[in-house]
Amino acid sequence: MARSKLGTSGMTRRSFLGTSAISLMGATALPGVARKLETAGITADLSSTPTPVNRMIFGQFIEHFHRQVYGGIFEPGSPLSDKMGLREDVIAALRELGVPVVRWPGGCFVSAYHWKNGVGPERVRSYDKAWKVEDPNTFGTDEFVTWCRRIGAEPYICTNAGTGTPEEMSDWVEYCNLERAGQYARMRRDNGYVEPHNVKYWSIGNENYGAWEAGAKTVEQWGYFVRESAKLTRFVDPSIKLFAAANADRTWTMPLLERAGRYLDYISIHGYWDPLWQDNNVSDYLTCMMRSVQPEAQILSTVEILRDAKLADRVKIAFDEWNLRGWHHPGHGDIGKSDALLKARDKNDLNETYTMADACFSACFLNACIRQAEHVHMANMAPVVNARGPLFVHPQGLVKRTTFHVMKMYNDLLEQQMVGANITGASLDHAGASIPVLDAVVTRSEDGRTASVAIVNRHPDRMLPCRLAIEGLPRDAQTTVTTLSGDSPDAYNDVDKPESVVPETRRLRAFDGSLALPPHSVSIVRLKA
Ligand code: AHR
Repeated sequence: MARSKLGTSGMTRRSFLGTSAISLMGATALPGVARKLETAGITADLSSTPTPVNRMIFGQFIEHFHRQVYGGIFEPGSPLSDKMGLREDVIAALRELGVPVVRWPGGCFVSAYHWKNGVGPERVRSYDKAWKVEDPNTFGTDEFVTWCRRIGAEPYICTNAGTGTPEEMSDWVEYCNLERAGQYARMRRDNGYVEPHNVKYWSIGNENYGAWEAGAKTVEQWGYFVRESAKLTRFVDPSIKLFAAANADRTWTMPLLERAGRYLDYISIHGYWDPLWQDNNVSDYLTCMMRSVQPEAQILSTVEILRDAKLADRVKIAFDEWNLRGWHHPGHGDIGKSDALLKARDKNDLNETYTMADACFSACFLNACIRQAEHVHMANMAPVVNARGPLFVHPQGLVKRTTFHVMKMYNDLLEQQMVGANITGASLDHAGASIPVLDAVVTRSEDGRTASVAIVNRHPDRMLPCRLAIEGLPRDAQTTVTTLSGDSPDAYNDVDKPESVVPETRRLRAFDGSLALPPHSVSIVRLKA
C-alpha cells in the first residue's frame, strides 16, 4: 500500500458518501480490466483552507521551430487562413481549448532573434542561428499579438538575452506598450497598430545556463544581466510582469535571486521528461508513468531555493516550457548541420507518439502544479501546435491529440481553488521503482458548493476501484464524470482516426462515492450541491 505524502488536509469526520459501486463508462468493456487493484481512496474536506489555482497554468508555448509557426498557426495562401495568414481552424480549436496565455517566440530560437526584423512592411529573411534554417520574418510581434487576441490568450514575450542587449529588450517593450512616446512606439503606429499591444508578461532570456543556447551566460554574468534588463524594461513600462530563466539548481538560481530577485515576479523553469533530442526512441507507457512524479520534485526543489532566498512569498514559478516528450532535433547546439539532421525533425510530427502515456503524464503534471498552486502561477505546454503539441496541424485540417483533451478537461471542469486531499492506494512498480497508482487533486468553487476532482489511474491494464469522500457537500450532490481512456495505453488520434480517444461524460445518479477507474485513464468527477 503506497500512501501519498502530497495531500495534507486529512479527514476525520465521516463523509456523506455511501458504499455501493458505480462503474465509470468503459470500465467493464475494456480488455484486461477483469483484474482489479485494491480499492484506493481520496478524501478531502471542502471547509479546509483553500489555495487559489492560477489558471495561467493552462498556458501554451509556440516557437519558430519546424512547422509550429510557419505551416502551423500561420499559413498565408491557405484556404483555411484569414487575410493575415492566420489559420482560422487553429484559432477555433485554441478558442475551444480556452488557452489563457501563450509564450513566444522561443525557446532557443529567441536567443539570437532580433525583433526589429519581424515588424513593418519590409520583412527581410534572416538566418535562424539556433535552428540553422532561414526565417522569413513574416510572423513577428504584430502577428503574434493579433493571433493571441484572436484566440483569447494573453501574449507572453520571451526576449533575447543571448545575443541581445537590455536596450533591445526595452525597445521591444516600448514598441508594444507605449502609446506614442519614442521612435518604437511611433514605429508601431506607423505599422498600423495605433493602440498599444499592452503585453503584460515579459521574460528575460531562455535557458541561458545551457551550453546549447546562443550567447549562454555564466552564473557570474546572469544575475547582473537580468538586473540591468529588468531596470531598462521597467524604465519603459513599470507595470510589466518580469520573468528570468532559472532552474532547480541552486548554483544557477541562488545568485540570480540574490542579484536580481527584487526585480522579478516569476522565475522560469523547464522540463521534458522523455529526452528525445538525439534519438527519437520514445519511451513506453510504463516508463513514462514512472517519470510522472518528477515534475513535482522539480517544483519542490525550486520552492526550496526561493524559500532560502526569502522570496517564496513574492516570486512565483512559471513552468514555462513543459512536455513529456523532448523535441527531436539531433545535432542541436553542435557546430554544423546536414539535410538529414533537419529532416529528422519531421519525426516530432508522428501522431502515433502521442498516446495515453502523454495524456496521463500531462494530467499528473497539471496535478502537481495544482497541488503546488501557492508557488506555480503559470505553466506553458511546449509547444501548442505540431511537434509535441496537443494540436497536429496539416494543410487540410487538424487533429486533436490526447493531450488536447486533457488540457480542455482541466480548463473546463476544474474549479478555482485547491483543497488538500488524502490519497491512499496501491503502488505501481516498474524497473525497480515504485510510485502511487493513483494521482488526484481536489478543487472547489469559491462559494464551496462545487467540488471537482481530477484523478489519474496510472495502471496500464487494471481497473482501479476508488472511494471518493468529500466532506462538505449534501448527500444529493449532482455528480458527473468525464473520462479519457482509449482502448489501450498506446491509443492515439490521427488524421484517419481523429476520434479514437475522446472524453466521455456521464451523469451518475445517486452517487455513493464508489468509482471504478479504467486503466490508463484521466477522469474528472464534479459534484455540485
Ligand atoms: O527542444 C526545444 C527546446 O527545448 C526549446 O527551444 C528550448 O527552450 C528547450 O531547450
